[in-house]
Amino acid sequence: MSEAPETSQELSEVLEDLRRHLLWQEEDGGRVLQVDARLAAELRGSALRAQMARAPAAKAAPAPAASPPAAAPAAAAPAARPMASSAPAPAPERPLAARAPQQMPARREAPPESLIEVPPRVRPSAGPLPGVVDGERPMLDDIRRELGDCRRCKLCDGRKNIVFGSGNPRAELVFVGEGPGADEDAQGVPFVGAAGQLLTKMIEAMGFRRDDVYICNVVKCRPPNNRNPEPDEVAACEPFLRAQLQALQPKAIVALGKFAAQTLLRDSTPITKMRGNWREYEGVKLMPTFHPAYLLRQPAEKKKAWEDLQQVMKFFGRQPGQRG
Ligand code: URA
Repeated sequence: MSEAPETSQELSEVLEDLRRHLLWQEEDGGRVLQVDARLAAELRGSALRAQMARAPAAKAAPAPAASPPAAAPAAAAPAARPMASSAPAPAPERPLAARAPQQMPARREAPPESLIEVPPRVRPSAGPLPGVVDGERPMLDDIRRELGDCRRCKLCDGRKNIVFGSGNPRAELVFVGEGPGADEDAQGVPFVGAAGQLLTKMIEAMGFRRDDVYICNVVKCRPPNNRNPEPDEVAACEPFLRAQLQALQPKAIVALGKFAAQTLLRDSTPITKMRGNWREYEGVKLMPTFHPAYLLRQPAEKKKAWEDLQQVMKFFGRQPGQRG
């Protein structure tokens, strides 16, 4: 008898997890949804069967509905904080070591892969980070001021707006993308186009709100025709990204796509090999995963990305259904 609630809880968690996954699969025209709906039915059936087998007399304890989120233990959830765009409020000092106490799992080395194209190694520019004085923790608005009306690379020629970053200046979780597209260039805000809408769903499926986290890109100006950023452009912008991360001092970073992962980690391993394995950036946990624009083109890969994001949720002590 006493096993029934435990099974119900498991069932509830499985279904909530599935529901969150499905939330950001909606735009796939139903193809993935149909597969997942079958899976959901199977899961529901097998969990119920398990419940029946384990608690044959538990007719009075039906399985809980899938939709209500599981109760959230408040302890692990970071407090809601104000959102900032390019002129964020000052953040208090938080020593990096104190903010990332978790042990990094052993790194799995990827074998060399000759069939997958590896872009040229990005060379970061040497020297102190912009807006960073004597290695001290900088402020985001000092870095933005330092960036100014940037003319450090050719991307300045075609841009409408510099897309510096947006979100919570005290975010514990930071998402780093590649570079602005047309919508982001027009609005001066990262990830507001189609890929951005998917990213927002991914963030919400993780139990965060978009304004809990901070979102920025490797390059701050739109590459023409959405081409890939070139190595000199990445090199010109990378110090600003590194300075932003030094200002934010997050607990974890999600690197979206190969440019973010390869630039931050200084590792040219293909994203297909890197994704899903915790890495470390300057003492901060970093999870490489697929870029949302890639997921829009390859919806079948969303399952893998969701697995990666679930690892990040676990790091933050979040269960499916738990809100921060
Ligand atoms: N893709 C990115 O990498 N960044 C954006 O801001 C938008 C799309």
